Amino acid sequence: MSKPKVLITRPSIPEEGIKKIEAKCDVEIYDQEKPIPKEDLIKKIKGVNGLFCLLTDPVDKDVIQAAGNQLKVIATMSVGYEHIDLEECKKRNIAVSHTPNVSSDSVAEWTVLLMLCAGRNFEEASTAIRDGKWVYSWSPTWLSGMGLFESTVGIFGMGRIGQSVMKRVLPFGVKKVLYYDVFHPIKPAEDMGAKYVEFEELLKESDFVVSMCNLSEETKNIFNKKAFDLMKKTAVFINTSRGGVVDQDDLYDALKSGKIRAAAIDVTVPEPLPKDHKLVSLKNLIITPHVASAETNVRIRMAELAAENILLGLEGKPLETPVPMPK
Ligand code: DGY
Repeated sequence: MSKPKVLITRPSIPEEGIKKIEAKCDVEIYDQEKPIPKEDLIKKIKGVNGLFCLLTDPVDKDVIQAAGNQLKVIATMSVGYEHIDLEECKKRNIAVSHTPNVSSDSVAEWTVLLMLCAGRNFEEASTAIRDGKWVYSWSPTWLSGMGLFESTVGIFGMGRIGQSVMKRVLPFGVKKVLYYDVFHPIKPAEDMGAKYVEFEELLKESDFVVSMCNLSEETKNIFNKKAFDLMKKTAVFINTSRGGVVDQDDLYDALKSGKIRAAAIDVTVPEPLPKDHKLVSLKNLIITPHVASAETNVRIRMAELAAENILLGLEGKPLETPVPMPK
């Protein structure tokens, strides 16, 4: 009996994941270390039974239709699945999985790292000598910022990663944790002491405003002028969720004018962000290149989980981590 065919869209997928699939399937791996262009995906997906893809791959209606009726399962090695046309998958009975949970702690750690770095002016401090800015041995207020101790942390989106951020900031001695989430109350967060507040109150009260929500019609550009205007002048804004939740022109203005004190973001629009983008010129903004889950062990686990889902889908069994399908 012939083996099922699986297309993997990037050669640098951790081999632990690739090997699991190769043990049972005929595998084609896109041979270039870059996001597969849509034309290539359309050509290569024809006749495959499973697709192992990434956030960067446009798995839209054209691609899914080009595959043919034998396509049974799509597994994305990411938590996000906004690049997959779920309506089309549902219509064609294609199972779709993602990789939640395995990267939550890693993303939460990075989020706390950004909170500390932005709050305490780490970037400017770490380049001060190189930039010739360390003039006096010690100065009373130079590079003074705010740490987590006794601060109010506002988490927008109290899902797994939000809760994991909360768990990590509590031992720093934060004063309180506020949260907003469309689904509330969120018991595990409230059991740890988080208080649910409306979005406006969260913006007004928090020293650290942390965006941890999904990108949706409701959250697109939700961090805009109106939101930044409501924040404290000393507020620090953090985003490790999706670039699309922030109006970047408004973020630029808020930071440039001192409306808020600092920000750190791991996600932008577009990605990659061009190095001459105006956001890059801001001294009070730290930008990292969508690496919050970039830990070797985490990426291996993500690849393995995506591979396990491919194999389950090919056997017609329930997936380990299916994405919620549209109603
Ligand atoms: C995801 O998994 O969706 C992240 O954004 C990339 O790790």
